[in-house]
Amino acid sequence: MEVEQNISLKPYNTFGVEATAQGFINLADEKKLLKLYENGFFAERFYILGGGSNILFTQDFSGTILRVSNKGIQHFIEGNHIYVTAAGGEVWNDLVWYCVHHGFPGMENMALIPGTVGASPVQNIGAYGAELMDIFYSCRAFDTKTGEFRTFHNTDCAFTYRDSIFKSRYKGRYIILSVTYKLSIHAPLNTKYGAIEQELQKRGIQQPSIKDIAEVVSYIRVEKLPDPSTVGNAGSFFKNPIVSNDQVENLKKDFPEIVYYPFADKESKLAAGWLIEQCGWKGKFVGQAGTWKNQALVIVNRGSASGKEIYNISCLIIEDVYKKFGVMLEREVNIL
Ligand code: EPU
Repeated sequence: MEVEQNISLKPYNTFGVEATAQGFINLADEKKLLKLYENGFFAERFYILGGGSNILFTQDFSGTILRVSNKGIQHFIEGNHIYVTAAGGEVWNDLVWYCVHHGFPGMENMALIPGTVGASPVQNIGAYGAELMDIFYSCRAFDTKTGEFRTFHNTDCAFTYRDSIFKSRYKGRYIILSVTYKLSIHAPLNTKYGAIEQELQKRGIQQPSIKDIAEVVSYIRVEKLPDPSTVGNAGSFFKNPIVSNDQVENLKKDFPEIVYYPFADKESKLAAGWLIEQCGWKGKFVGQAGTWKNQALVIVNRGSASGKEIYNISCLIIEDVYKKFGVMLEREVNIL
């Protein structure tokens, strides 16, 4: 199998930062995995890359990048359910539109999330009131430690907000080759998210179709979030922090306007974008790196920022938010 040498990773990360990988493999055919395993490839340093939309390269990579690029989408219907299986290298948004065009509900609120199908369970992607864990049925993955193929079902994955077993206990170990989603033919459309409701109203749509929702969500994202093809970014850079309800009550004494949502019994999720904005960081830059003018949770590269510069901004933001609110932000983006 061909390993390319000294490859620029700029086209392979949506931040558009410059970094070089010592080795690079484009994995379009899973049959090659066994050969790689037998040759001891996985005993050396490697990193599994999908769409490059959730990674920040802060330095050159002294191992081999394995980019998953296998393709294919199929489905079958059983009773009231549709099982859609997509290869790990498929672009997530292409899968969403495959379902929209077939009239399968369940993914439309997650239209235009960047990244690949294989990455979708890793960080349990979500947007506008929908989360991957609600439609994930199973995935097939290659164990780089044992050289075996394994199927994970929903309950095996320890899904929580923007997290799964693939990001925690098994970080970097499994290559997700395909994902099967279980959709309900009669699933009600989810239009409760404020921005969706408002945009539907503006368009005079009272009985939205699956396609209407996908279009409206795509529109909202384009309006609010920077387009990685022109402004480097990786979506939300931080997770929305989960804190106890007691802490929220304390914060409310000093910051009555604080934005938060109920999360679990005794916990709430704070809007990290709000916390960052209150620290004066919205639209603020240091050199070529800063936060997006319409969404302070998104760190952007407005030109030639290095991965280190972007990382440094994230450190400053974490520090300022901690100083003002006593809340520690956690990065959603993987740092390499
Ligand atoms: N807000 C501000 N200032 C900002 C940004 C946000 O005050 O600069 C406040 C606003 O009050 C707003 C609230 O925060 O109402 C929430 O903002 P928004 O609706 O944009 O959602 P978010 O919590 O910032 C999350 C996801 C996004 C997803 C949106 C929509 C995380 C880390 N991020 O952002 O996901 O698109 O909800 O569902 O959970 C991503 O993960 O890359 C991503 C873009």
